[in-house]
Amino acid sequence: MDKPYMLQFPQHGERGWLVVIEGVNDVPFDIKRIFYIYGSDESVIRGRHANRKSEFVLINVCGSCKVKTNDGRGNEDIFILDKPHAGIYIPKLVWKDMYDFSEDSILLCLASEYYDPEEYIRDMDEFLSEMREV
Ligand code: TYD
Repeated sequence: MDKPYMLQFPQHGERGWLVVIEGVNDVPFDIKRIFYIYGSDESVIRGRHANRKSEFVLINVCGSCKVKTNDGRGNEDIFILDKPHAGIYIPKLVWKDMYDFSEDSILLCLASEYYDPEEYIRDMDEFLSEMREV
């Protein structure tokens, strides 16, 4: 089973930087959806779910935040996102919490699937019990 891992993207340019992310070539899936989250202070935890189908790449394009992942099998990791040219790949069936947002944080999320609330698992106990059955 895939694990979350960090991705580094090349920075292009001489008069300032430009980062290119192409589906399949720069992230391990075709990108079907893009959204971004901002305006959360350091007391807020976002995410708090796992997805049955979607894979994600999260990039903090401005400011910083942390991402805690849990695979439901006893493996927990914490990633710091504080560079516009680095991201975290999160496979399906991984619980994620995003937190410690700087005031200026803008967290860009690339997803492998269109939005479907039915594929979100928002209850940790349900997630753990589903993972025991996989
Ligand atoms: P939610 O998944 O609860 O995100 P967070 O924990 O970061 O606040 O989503 C917030 C709202 O946005 C919720 O009403 C669902 C909606 N939403 C969409 O309509 N499409 C999407 O692609 C996403 C991610 C959320």
